[in-house]
Amino acid sequence: MNGLQLIATGGALPGRTVTNEDLSRVVDTSDEWITTRTGIRTRHWCTEGESAATLAIAAARQALERSGLAPEQIACCVCATLSAPDATPSVACQVQRALGLPEDRPALDVNAACSGFVYGTAVARGLLTTLGGQYALVVGCEALSRLMDPTDRSTCVLFGDGAGAAVYALADTPFAITLGARGNDAIHAGGPDRAGSAPITMDGKAVFRFAVDALPKSLNKVLAETGLTLDDLGWVVCHQANSRIIDHCIKHLNADPAKFYKNMDRHGNTSAASIPVALNELAEAGKLTPGQRVACIGFGGGLTWGGMILTYKG
Ligand code: ACO
Repeated sequence: MNGLQLIATGGALPGRTVTNEDLSRVVDTSDEWITTRTGIRTRHWCTEGESAATLAIAAARQALERSGLAPEQIACCVCATLSAPDATPSVACQVQRALGLPEDRPALDVNAACSGFVYGTAVARGLLTTLGGQYALVVGCEALSRLMDPTDRSTCVLFGDGAGAAVYALADTPFAITLGARGNDAIHAGGPDRAGSAPITMDGKAVFRFAVDALPKSLNKVLAETGLTLDDLGWVVCHQANSRIIDHCIKHLNADPAKFYKNMDRHGNTSAASIPVALNELAEAGKLTPGQRVACIGFGGGLTWGGMILTYKG
């Protein structure tokens, strides 16, 4: 067994909801500009006591409860984030402690920006197959509001905070995963080497061009590897950066738009959290049904990209 099956999901959103109208009172923008260019209408930002770690813990706890597994059955914990509140302890170690996961198992963070959840899933699968164990917990969590310049209209309208979690089981169901990276500064957010504030900056047009190329290529690659076609998939869950990027992909692939889930209108771009938040919404709404095959495609800062196909056990 070396594929992964999704057996349970969880999610958490922070307390503050920010509308396009709210932002238009702070920066020179409008609801019309934001919705037509991005499809985003609202996003959620962390309140004072919230962080990528508090959201991760809430989402992970929900996924674990829904899986029906005991903490001792989780063989590894991987958190994907670019906005961890602390360099150490990692978010994954904070989740390990909060959920009482066993100490003789790995817990680590992965930073691959908006591709992080797919990267994190690949790392978890590698840990299960090398160290042993049946079940893995993978979380995507972000507090991008903490990395933004709230007065920069070119970025503050795009990003939101949130967390989504998945419990996976090793299984013999169809599975494929592809990852890639191309070192490039088109999306940048500062770390300790940059004194003072170093908020997210982005060359939006370059990222757009990259995304509309990476998305269909990644999807086609995992379809080819599994021998499946788009018709065999219940859902395609892409990173929720911009509605127009997904529409471009649908057109390029001549695909059924109804298969491509979109929720950026409510959450904005939540980077590593966007795919698991979407999976959790689909599961909660009963739209993700047992046995369905799902493709997840991420792309973003790094630059990085990644795609996978897995089965929902439910
Ligand atoms: N409100 C009003 N006007 C604005 C805003 C705003 N919020 N932001 C920019 N503008 C203006 C610009 O100043 C520019 O004005 P000018 O023509 O007078 O110079 C004009 O609107 C056009 O700006 P562009 O940046 O060219 O707008 P574009 O059509 O490219 O849309 C966007 C920008 C939405 C960012 C788009 O490029 C995009 O979605 N790119 C992809 C982003 C993405 O996928 N990111 C994913 C990775 S994120 C991660 O990894 C963390």
